[in-house]
Amino acid sequence: MEFIKQPMKLVFLWAEGWFDRFFGPKWNPFYCLGALGYYYFWIVGISGIYIYIFFDTGVPQAYESTEYITHDQWYLAGIMRSIHRYASDAMVVMVLMHFCREFAFDRYRGGRWFSWVTGVSTLWLVFSAGITGYWLVWDKLAQYIAIASMEWLDWLPIFGEPIARNFMAPTHFDGRFFTLLVFMHIAIPLILLFIMWFHLQRINYAKVNPARGLAIGTLLMLLAISLLKPAVSHEMANLSEVPGELNLDWFYLWAYPMIEHLGPGFMWGFAGLGTVLLALIPWLPPKKRPPPAVVNLDNCNGCTRCVTDCPFRAVNMRARTDGGPFKEEAVVDPALCVSCGICVGACPTAMPFRRAGALVPGIDLPDFSVEQLRDQVNAVAQSLQGDDRIITFGCNHGCDPTRLGVKNLGFVALRCSGMLPPSFIDYTLSKGLADGVVITGCREGECHHRLGNVWVDGRMARERDPRLRRRVPEARVLKVWAAPTDRRNLLAEINAFQAGLPDLPDDDSSKRLVGIETDKMAAPEKTEPAA
Ligand code: HEM
Ligand code: SF4
Ligand code: SF4
Repeated sequence: MEFIKQPMKLVFLWAEGWFDRFFGPKWNPFYCLGALGYYYFWIVGISGIYIYIFFDTGVPQAYESTEYITHDQWYLAGIMRSIHRYASDAMVVMVLMHFCREFAFDRYRGGRWFSWVTGVSTLWLVFSAGITGYWLVWDKLAQYIAIASMEWLDWLPIFGEPIARNFMAPTHFDGRFFTLLVFMHIAIPLILLFIMWFHLQRINYAKVNPARGLAIGTLLMLLAISLLKPAVSHEMANLSEVPGELNLDWFYLWAYPMIEHLGPGFMWGFAGLGTVLLALIPWLPPKKRPPPAVVNLDNCNGCTRCVTDCPFRAVNMRARTDGGPFKEEAVVDPALCVSCGICVGACPTAMPFRRAGALVPGIDLPDFSVEQLRDQVNAVAQSLQGDDRIITFGCNHGCDPTRLGVKNLGFVALRCSGMLPPSFIDYTLSKGLADGVVITGCREGECHHRLGNVWVDGRMARERDPRLRRRVPEARVLKVWAAPTDRRNLLAEINAFQAGLPDLPDDDSSKRLVGIETDKMAAPEKTEPAA
């Protein structure tokens, strides 16, 4: 699947880079596609409630009341109808882009399968909600959709007699059907909302609200489109006539021409097989999961920092089981752990300075321990010489500094930048292992493990525990968030940083952190997804 994923990822990185330049990471819609999905859901809900006040069920009434909404009360209900339609379209776009992005960036394996599989189920619900909405208008388009949908359902051998027949003659069709449709059009979004909430149950601090500026900006865009091109109906449905030319909403109704031209059987195969294949993606092909983080009770003091920082709700606290002097201990749920190491970066006991005995922190990755990390730093330092030696700590998902051709630069690869305990920066500089330390990883707002670079920002700014010690000369520390496509930026930053290192005084105490990332993100507040 790499041959599909890699080009998709490059396209995303390229587009996101441009959006970053114009809007900044905070307002970059690519970094909050799921949150925008939520946002449009709420807009659809509120505008839907308003137009429902004027909507009347019944064969002519449904159409007539929609015409009243559109033309007689165009200044409010009409605009609400348009916003309802365009926000629904925007929601489809956001959900599909979110889905493609999670796929392209490989964010669905291991414990993340849960968000992926629940996400797949939202696709059916989003489309069903939109399609039932189109029926309610009861114009020629609704007639076409109703008959095509029934023919599609009739292909399955579950109904005794073909239900499409109900739409063949006006006498077969009454207002009760509209009551059922209204019920479905309300019930499906409610089920969707429940699944949207369920979708986030394995995620800590899920971003369910876009930045305020982005929210206001996109709402204004919806309003502008609604004024420029208000949503209108076709002629009223007439079951004794075949609908003529129709304007399809391609966001929702793309499947209907396929049913018509390729047949209902093909469409069932496409939808059914497609859903199964999509749901199985986290296991295609099956890969061995790295071992989950393990807690070492001898060194766990129950401080709860690992619980607070784990982006995947994989660590919890429970009553002490070893009779130790602390009330609680951390415990990892292996099913949820994606082995990102962020909890290790949060643990106050992950201190490289410890000399006696093995270096075992309260929580550690069995296949990439803090002790191994310290050994790597020591080993990398051996290969550097002079007064402009740099040790770079970077994650596997950002720009690879070893490919920049910078001399006198050693690299220590991490699972995530958030895996680095800040004491390692202090250790590297105070032990004279390097003249400067560079920390790099995924772009701001775009951490592969969701929150790694956000926590690093907080720790380095000394706003979040474990904090970078005050004695660390900050002019010797460079933090650059850079994606694989940001090589030029990273190279320029490192070159400028390295050139300045020989001129820094030994005991430099400047309080400046240098880097292309200037707008530090505050640690997000804990927000529970809407119930
Ligand atoms: C109504 C539709 C959807 C909404 C509103 C929605 C919303 C969200 C939100 C808010 C997040 C949390 C983002 C974060 O804070 O990191 C998220 C995560 C996720 N979503 Fe969706 N989503 C939807 C559909 C989908 C679909 C269709 C898929 C793919 C099949 C999907 C896959 C995922 C995955 C894998 C994550 C976890 C990402 C991670 O672990 O980093 N979602 N979604
Ligand atoms: S951060 Fe370390 S010491 Fe604190 S609870 Fe977690 S494992 Fe224990
Ligand atoms: S490695 Fe640590 S932070 Fe990462 S998912 Fe596992 S428990 Fe959570």
